[in-house]
Amino acid sequence: MLFTTTSEHEQIRKAVREFAETEIKPIAFSLDQNNEFPEEQIRKFGEMGFMGLPYPTEYGGAGKDVISYAIAVEELSRVDGGTGVILSAHVSLGTFPIAHFGNEEQKKKYLVPLAKGEKLAAFGLTEPNAGSDASGTETTAEWNGDGYILNGNKIFITNAPKADVYVVFAVTDKDKGTHGISAFIVEKGWEGFTFGDHYDKLGIRSSSTAELRFNNVFVPKENLLGKEGEGFKIAMMTLDGGRIGIAAQALGIAQGAYEAAVEYAKERVQFGRPIASQQAISFKIADMATKIRCARFLVYSAAELKEAHEPYGKESAMAKMYASDIALEVVNDAVQIFGGTGYLKGMDVERMYRDAKITTIYEGTNEIQRIVIASHILPRKKD
Ligand code: CAA
Repeated sequence: MLFTTTSEHEQIRKAVREFAETEIKPIAFSLDQNNEFPEEQIRKFGEMGFMGLPYPTEYGGAGKDVISYAIAVEELSRVDGGTGVILSAHVSLGTFPIAHFGNEEQKKKYLVPLAKGEKLAAFGLTEPNAGSDASGTETTAEWNGDGYILNGNKIFITNAPKADVYVVFAVTDKDKGTHGISAFIVEKGWEGFTFGDHYDKLGIRSSSTAELRFNNVFVPKENLLGKEGEGFKIAMMTLDGGRIGIAAQALGIAQGAYEAAVEYAKERVQFGRPIASQQAISFKIADMATKIRCARFLVYSAAELKEAHEPYGKESAMAKMYASDIALEVVNDAVQIFGGTGYLKGMDVERMYRDAKITTIYEGTNEIQRIVIASHILPRKKD
């Protein structure tokens, strides 16, 4: 387990923080209010090499480690959780399955522009009847001799409709349960592939989220990812890594709210002295700092295990569950420290309070994380 970051990690932190402070922070409130995706800023972030941080340089990536990637998500989320999840969904959900399960042609065609940040990726798993129970996938992919015909709907898809490339899960053999689900690489613009309306969300409003609709979409056989029937395993393995990204997002939101609260507590005078010097507030700040530190260790150590190719599914679920649970507590305390002022639109902590909630829900609710963690420790009993 790693207890300290390297100087290279801290250089990456510094560069991403500078980008986040100068490019995202000044517009974060307007992105939130207008439900607006930071298109120009994401393009620039890609040109700086940050959209493919953990992928090999020969495929257009930056060749950095998973901790560097987690730090990048954390630092974006420290100023705007919506921008943080754009990076997380792109790197660890949309791009990872292509990098990990793609063949050489698929990597050349898709991984290279995704890792260079020239294209944006998304992950199409969730459906109206397959949320926590991902095995309930109903979208179908029928073999027609040359390729597959895709039919069905995906909901709550992060980065849609902005993304160019989608990893989509569909049933190729309904009699085989989870072994009858396959993964496909699908491009925006293909005939029959359309989007539903952009969702109007409580938080992370700078990220785009939409429904995917497949109406007899032809997917060439070259775009099957992995083998037929491997889709569920690909989805689960991708989510193991994706949860590090969401844990880092939650950590970043908590850090941003904590810093804002500390600054405010030092300035705000009540009863003749700054509220920071009053025990009710200083104890809250001590608790917030401790929770954030615990979360950071969990996030970086899960990232370190993934980087070392050690089993990390249990640890990434722990990191996601804990970091998102404490993020909610920390943003709540931050708003409490700000008092009525923190309840006002335009205050960062008000936005962070709304942004934090989703981290306990997506990429597996925290109830699902507990199932995953327990299944690594105890024999799993299905009721
Ligand atoms: N790695 C590899 N294989 C795995 C695996 C993993 N992490 N987890 C399960 N599997 C394999 C099992 O070994 C098993 O294989 P065999 O049949 O060969 O033994 C098979 O998959 C089925 O496993 P389970 O019986 O455990 O599967 P299940 O149906 O009970 O589901 C679950 C398990 C953990 C609850 C799973 O459904 C799950 O993770 N649900 C949550 C889904 C989720 O996280 N959705 C998020 C969508 S993406 C998103 O939110 C993105 C965003 O917006 C940013």
